[in-house]
Amino acid sequence: MCGIVGAVAQRNITPVLLEGLKRLEYRGYDSCGVALHSNGELQRSRSTSRVAELENLVQQANLSGFTGIAHTRWATHGVPSTDNAHPHFSRDRIALVHNGIIENHDELRAELKALGYRFDSQTDTEVIAHLVDHMYQGDLFETVQLAVKRLHGAYAIAVFCRDEPHRIIGARQGSPLIVGVGQGENFLASDAMAIAGTTDQIIYLEEGDVVDLQLHRCWIVDSEGRPAQREIRTVHAHTGAAELGPYRHYMQKEIFEQPRAIADTLEGVTGIMPELFGDAAHGVFKKINSVLILACGTSYYAGLTAKYWIESIAKIPVQVEVASEYRYRDSVPNPDSLVVTISQSGETADTLAALKHARQLGMQHTLTICNVSTSAMVRECALSYITRAGVEVGVASTKAFTTQLAALFLLTLTLAQSKGLLNDEQEAEHLKAMRHLPVAISAVLALEPQIIAWSEDFARYENALFLGRGMHYPIALEGALKLKEISYIHAEAYPAGELKHGPLALVTKEMPVVTVAPKDALLEKLKSNMQEVRARGGELYVFADADTNITPSEGVHVIRLPENYGQLSPILHTVSLQLLAYHTALARGTDVDKPRNLAKSVTVE
Ligand code: M6R
Repeated sequence: MCGIVGAVAQRNITPVLLEGLKRLEYRGYDSCGVALHSNGELQRSRSTSRVAELENLVQQANLSGFTGIAHTRWATHGVPSTDNAHPHFSRDRIALVHNGIIENHDELRAELKALGYRFDSQTDTEVIAHLVDHMYQGDLFETVQLAVKRLHGAYAIAVFCRDEPHRIIGARQGSPLIVGVGQGENFLASDAMAIAGTTDQIIYLEEGDVVDLQLHRCWIVDSEGRPAQREIRTVHAHTGAAELGPYRHYMQKEIFEQPRAIADTLEGVTGIMPELFGDAAHGVFKKINSVLILACGTSYYAGLTAKYWIESIAKIPVQVEVASEYRYRDSVPNPDSLVVTISQSGETADTLAALKHARQLGMQHTLTICNVSTSAMVRECALSYITRAGVEVGVASTKAFTTQLAALFLLTLTLAQSKGLLNDEQEAEHLKAMRHLPVAISAVLALEPQIIAWSEDFARYENALFLGRGMHYPIALEGALKLKEISYIHAEAYPAGELKHGPLALVTKEMPVVTVAPKDALLEKLKSNMQEVRARGGELYVFADADTNITPSEGVHVIRLPENYGQLSPILHTVSLQLLAYHTALARGTDVDKPRNLAKSVTVE
């Protein structure tokens, strides 16, 4: 999703801006651009291609400057095009980049058009550039403070003015923006990774903040215009994507990194203790009587899996909500509920808004399972558990999901212990199974050649059904999401028992049915559901635990996983579905790491 980098310095800042954009590429974008204050004028280059192409354009145009802003855009208002790419200019005086969505842009556009402003793009962002220009009376800091009062919606902006060469103003409301403090130079960015290597002295701007950045000045005011003291933190952000090594895509690499990612996530867990989630966790876990999980996409499916675990092992009622729904619906708050957000990025706008909504409803016990320790989600929640998946570059989440599951299982055990439902023997047994997970996952990864053989078949289909039961139903959902995201095959998942209540009507020999078949208490029921599919000519692709007696036959393809892995079985079954999606996409020739229309980090509503 959109990314911002800005700098005011005493050196040519172009390489820092371009490097920052490269580090933001992982978020997903469809165009990019950079603007510089150069020889008393505003200059810019924009491209609908990759940042590497922008770099060529910048070199050809010989662009350089001491003050500048740059942006990667993920289209919301207006198609991906050079005209719609940021930075936007107003009357060759104001240059501006923006993340977020301005809801009252139509009204402002009409007003500015009536004042004689000409619009070159279809974006909501250009409206802000013209608004700032219209209100400008010689002091950009004052102007931006006034201008943002006219904006409804979410924004993080960076803006500079031809007439004030060594100054950039930033403002945020609903979209993240950070300041990087340097020596005789200062930076703005949408996340710390963009300027990692340039400075590790980071200020996280708060909602409503406006910042005045000059060479030796970093002055922040809050939404009321009052001077605001914000802590400078030393942040060791990741310096970007790791090398691909022997893999063809980051997604493949990240699937194969899962044994290491899970081991890292569980490193240091020598026993079940609430302090793993924060100092205050002990008291909170004793007090709460329900759990409310808020998340989006794959993280939501992690939450659905956790519901099965927590209700079965810790006997605490769990409600799992899609964040974008929860934030707008009337719900019945329980102040004694533990609100758990799950997020890879920690910057997902809907999940952050849902968290805020839950707090406004009086629910103050908050915990996040998150992969980015410096993210807004971790800062906003009282308690946290950081998954150690490492940077995930592929848009389709893989290692982030399985590490979330590992952390959520740990949370389940900790809650069970707090409620007196976990004895020492059970604790030791669960911990042993968790520690063995990396080895067990490696055994599933070894099935890759068999899955490749399936995927060649699979690639010719346009639709697929995924079935699971119990705690493997969310895994079927995740398998279907993976397949549709990267192969563009239409895939839906159902609890297998629902088949005859509707979806069975879709089953023909052109509708492959992927079945997650662990050896659990529901296996016999699942087998009946499989018969229902076969009786209608449907082809079954079954991932079965080794200790089930499901055998291949006409129309029934079987790949055997290791023996049933008990409560942690969903983690193993996920890996086989990831490989199926990956190799099917590969066979169809799609852009696996950057699927069309999608962004890694969804920082707008
Ligand atoms: O960063 P988050 O975990 O909050 O992101 C949530 C979803 O946007 C994300 O899981 C998305 O569904 C992935 N593309 C799934 O592969």
